[in-house]
Amino acid sequence: MIKKFLDLGRQPITNAYLTENDLSDEFLFHLSVGFDEETKLVSLMEFVKPQMMFNDTYAHRASMSATMRESFTEIALSIKQQFKPAKVLEIGSNDGVFIKNFNKDEIVALEPCGNLAEMTKQMGYETYPYFWNTEIAKKIIKNHGKMDIVYSANTLCHIEDLKGVFEALNIVLNDSGVLIFEDPSLYDLLRNTSYDQFYDEHAHLFSVIALKDILSKSNFEIFKVENLATHGGSNRIYAKKTSTHSIKIDKSVEQNIQKELDFEMDKMTAYDNFAQRVKTSKDDLISLLTGLKRQGKKIISYGATYKSTTIFNYCRIGTDLIDYITDTTPNKQGKLSPGSHIPIISPEEGFNDSVDYAFLGAWNFYKEIMNKETEFINRGGKFITHVPHVKVL
Ligand code: TYD
Repeated sequence: MIKKFLDLGRQPITNAYLTENDLSDEFLFHLSVGFDEETKLVSLMEFVKPQMMFNDTYAHRASMSATMRESFTEIALSIKQQFKPAKVLEIGSNDGVFIKNFNKDEIVALEPCGNLAEMTKQMGYETYPYFWNTEIAKKIIKNHGKMDIVYSANTLCHIEDLKGVFEALNIVLNDSGVLIFEDPSLYDLLRNTSYDQFYDEHAHLFSVIALKDILSKSNFEIFKVENLATHGGSNRIYAKKTSTHSIKIDKSVEQNIQKELDFEMDKMTAYDNFAQRVKTSKDDLISLLTGLKRQGKKIISYGATYKSTTIFNYCRIGTDLIDYITDTTPNKQGKLSPGSHIPIISPEEGFNDSVDYAFLGAWNFYKEIMNKETEFINRGGKFITHVPHVKVL
């Protein structure tokens, strides 16, 4: 039975950065999260149609951050060294930040967002502008043969029909092939009270416990788990077909499962306790921002992230508390944030001496931002975060 444990209220499409003209017919849906007591999977209670989220105006560009560029280059090199694949498929190739580490005849990309698919096509990479399913898996085999490696970052957790996802993966992978995918870690989310990882695109938030169950039902077995710092804590899962006996199971699989069991992630209580912490986080953030505002401080938000969309809409934070958001992504600038309608401007324009406090919407880039913004910090500017609890840094 699926039990709801968190209600984040009415929320917009996180990628729907708005112009003034869009305000009258903004789409909102009810964002709440449930735990399946049988499969241990954590998912949204209501899913948003993929075409509404992943389309030709998709804003997120993975290559915009140095942290992500480095992470993708590192895993691409590691895959080449460890597995020496002749053919690789990436599912959800975004702006090509991973595939550009491969020769054009070594890799095939799949990316349903038309604007992004067009970018990698222009770079000379074979890119299928479709959603992942068994039909496209068959088409890819027909055109390219079976794959030695399938890699996917921050994409599989976006897909409602997980059974279909792994069925299609079974079709496209060689029998001795390896599936490598990474998504935000539910363990880190719970421990950090980073409830902002819940938004329209994250149909599921994976625990290793739940993945083991889902994968085994599709004849896959996890043989290694890597804990990553990206996206505020992610797990990189390595899986093989159950029929392949030549790959040893690494102890990281059992270690991660045990860590999650110790945190009681197989039981409803872990989720109910988390929901209590989320309420406290909301109250603390509102009271901190309101107090600072009363003292006449100027507060902005740093990074127009999808995550901060959840926070601002759940906590009902608007321009009364946050003057504007700065973001380096050109196609977010000049727009309004989804739901909360806070103006987004470039850091060059907005991250200046007038700012007293900056809420870290992009808290997952904490290190990169601290290294970059020494001038702001040196002149007494302060960052605010809600992770793992609300505080001024
Ligand atoms: P991202 O990490 O993709 O988070 P989410 O998945 O929640 O959207 O987004 C980070 C955003 O922060 C992206 O729009 C770029 C922006 N950003 C800055 O504006 N300045 C920075 O120094 C960094 C690192 C990111």
